[in-house]
Amino acid sequence: MQLQVLNSPFNQEQAELLNRILPTLTESQKVWLSGFLAAAQFSSVTGEGNGQVAELSSANTAPTISKDVTILFGSQTGNAQGLAKKAAKKLEADGFQVTVLAMSDFKPNNLKKVENLLIVASTHGEGTPPDNALSFHEFLHGKRAPKLDHLRFSILALGDSSYEFFCQTGKDFDKRLEELGGLRLYPRFDCDLDYDEPAAEWLAGVLSNLKEGDGGSKVPLQEQVTQIVESTYSRSNPFRAEVLENINLNGRGSNKETHHLELSLEGSGLTFEPGDSLGIYPENDHALVTLLLEEMNWDPEQLVTVNKKGESLPLKDALISHFEITTLTKPLIEKAARLSANQNLQELLSPGNEEKLKTYIDGRDLLDLSRDFTPWIGSAQEFVDILRKMPSRLYSISSSLAANPDEVHLTIGAVRYEAHGRERKGVCSIQAAERLQPGDTVPVYIQHNDNFKLPMNPDAPIIMVGPGTGTAPFRSFMQEREEIGAEGKSWFFFGDQHFVTDFLYQTEWQKWLQNGVLTKMDVAFSRDMAEKVYVQHRMLEHSKELYEWLEEGAHLYICGDEKNMAHDVHNTLIEIIEKEGSLSREKAVEYLAEMQQQKRYQRDVY
Ligand SMILES: Cc1cc2nc3c(=O)[nH]c(=O)nc-3n(C[C@H](O)[C@H](O)[C@H](O)COP(=O)(O)OP(=O)(O)OC[C@H]3O[C@@H](n4cnc5c(N)ncnc54)[C@H](O)[C@@H]3O)c2cc1C
Ligand SMILES: NC(=O)c1ccc[n+]([C@@H]2O[C@H](COP(=O)([O-])OP(=O)(O)OC[C@H]3O[C@@H](n4cnc5c(N)ncnc54)[C@H](OP(=O)(O)O)[C@@H]3O)[C@@H](O)[C@H]2O)c1
Ligand SMILES: Cc1cc2nc3c(=O)[nH]c(=O)nc-3n(C[C@H](O)[C@H](O)[C@H](O)COP(=O)(O)O)c2cc1C
Repeated sequence: MQLQVLNSPFNQEQAELLNRILPTLTESQKVWLSGFLAAAQFSSVTGEGNGQVAELSSANTAPTISKDVTILFGSQTGNAQGLAKKAAKKLEADGFQVTVLAMSDFKPNNLKKVENLLIVASTHGEGTPPDNALSFHEFLHGKRAPKLDHLRFSILALGDSSYEFFCQTGKDFDKRLEELGGLRLYPRFDCDLDYDEPAAEWLAGVLSNLKEGDGGSKVPLQEQVTQIVESTYSRSNPFRAEVLENINLNGRGSNKETHHLELSLEGSGLTFEPGDSLGIYPENDHALVTLLLEEMNWDPEQLVTVNKKGESLPLKDALISHFEITTLTKPLIEKAARLSANQNLQELLSPGNEEKLKTYIDGRDLLDLSRDFTPWIGSAQEFVDILRKMPSRLYSISSSLAANPDEVHLTIGAVRYEAHGRERKGVCSIQAAERLQPGDTVPVYIQHNDNFKLPMNPDAPIIMVGPGTGTAPFRSFMQEREEIGAEGKSWFFFGDQHFVTDFLYQTEWQKWLQNGVLTKMDVAFSRDMAEKVYVQHRMLEHSKELYEWLEEGAHLYICGDEKNMAHDVHNTLIEIIEKEGSLSREKAVEYLAEMQQQKRYQRDVY
């Protein structure tokens, strides 16, 4: 290969000199030179060497690439964690010494000692880091962040392109590490919900760059990519679980519809612990698919290719089970614009119209797009090619395997709303509410979640805050504690709209209260009285006792709505700690952060 100094930090004269001398060098001269420069840089940084570097023999001068790699993950629901662990296995198999840790378990000051850093981080909230990445993120962006000139890093960012701040946390880390002097070992990859392939590609790239100067990779890139794709039942190879039971838990006249779904895991070998979730790959509403086919004048039986392996299916089946058609994203609209001759669509994408585009996307789906921007000039296959793969939906598991072997139970709230003059239905929750019958099967996988687990010590007290469907994992907790005969105290805060129709699993909770598996329960039915009462109001009413439980080492869990409830409960907790612990607000925030660090404050929110 002809070496050429092009876009370099050298001035023109230096670059010309280098370009003249480089082609004349033998291989061993090049190795000597690179070792000489690396060693000279090392001595200038550490003050070692005493000017002896020029005398080092060429055998010793090849740059030493550290085989130590630190992988830090920030993960709320386990995706980034799973990928970080897979990456660690792969690197270890290739001879690297790997430390893999949640960001919350890593002492940020140790960054100074890390040479190769890989970060796998998802984004939550409205572009905010997951809980276990918060303190590391804050540290890096604060004044105490160290200079990281010695660091080589690469970021794998997980997100969902339907969110405004796509992969924001990964982007933040990438930018900040560079600002602190780190050298990007491999470019950041921003992954959408279908992250397996890009994640594997990122890892293969990282690996081959890590190996540079280390004899090089002997494994072709494509082989490395395929090696880390899983083979047993998993997210990428789901198990078809049979529906055993499907019951609406809400009484007649309720505004809500919450389905208790029981699925069989028999023969799958799948196992889970309380706190884990189940992923379901749902099907689109058949009626919506029919409307879309009619609107686009497409033949439902026409065969289309649905994946890179070249598998094909009739268009109608492909739209029902393979692709997302209910969410619009900016990248999708940009690609769709190439298949439309409608000027308004080009206009919507032009600079300055970002707000207009956001407003358009909000609450609209592919059927809206197909109606709004005719004429379409792309083929059905071209359309299919731009769609995102159907993303799975996660559900907090509401049963314990010890109590219900070979089964998994879910508590699914039906999502229905109106937008832009049309009834909209949540894909998965409405499949569960309207179509899934005992005997049907659905593709599922287990999403382990180390960030939402019962205390190791069964005697430790637990406080559970779970309004609405947030009750799900706590049913699992209670079943498990009953099964193992745990002695620890437990306290449940539940809330929903009406006592009569919406007290989910009422009789089970009452049974656990009676038999002592549950020590205390406080309920907040928000629409039974003139004034709204929420779980956090009940917590405030019992603030003294709640604080005493915390002081005794209780673990506190929140599950359910992320947007409002989880924030309000979090703030209420700070208020309680501040008041009952006679602490400043700052100290109360620290108290809760410390609980989080000790894994005594965990959230499963969505
Ligand atoms: C870790 C985790 C655990 C979860 N556990 C549970 C659980 O135990 N039970 C449960 O019911 N859900 C749970 N969820 C939520 C669940 O994964 C799905 O998001 C939910 O069921 C909706 O999926 P869907 O396919 O029915 O709706 P989708 O087709 O995905 O539609 C939902 C989307 O519709 C839009 N939308 C919803 N309401 C409105 C509105 N009023 N106006 C405008 N737009 C709106 C929003 O963009 C929303 O994201 C959990 C989520 C996570 C991440
Ligand atoms: N990301 C997603 O795709 C997705 C999908 C489905 C559901 N969700 C969220 O998940 C939540 C769960 O739905 P759900 O039907 O189980 O229950 P929910 O809507 O959260 O309602 C449960 C109870 O919580 C109350 N509540 C409302 N705001 C609250 C607040 N700020 N603090 C404390 N309590 C509050 C409700 O009262 P009122 O109703 O009387 O106000 C109700 O009594 C939904 O709120 C929704 O936001 C998200
Ligand atoms: C409540 C919630 C909020 C989210 N917010 C964002 C967001 O702002 N930006 C984004 O790119 N992805 C967002 N996501 C998508 C997640 O980053 C994505 O699902 C990711 O794969 C989760 O990885 P984890 O399991 O490691 O946390 C959000 C997901 C949830 C459940």
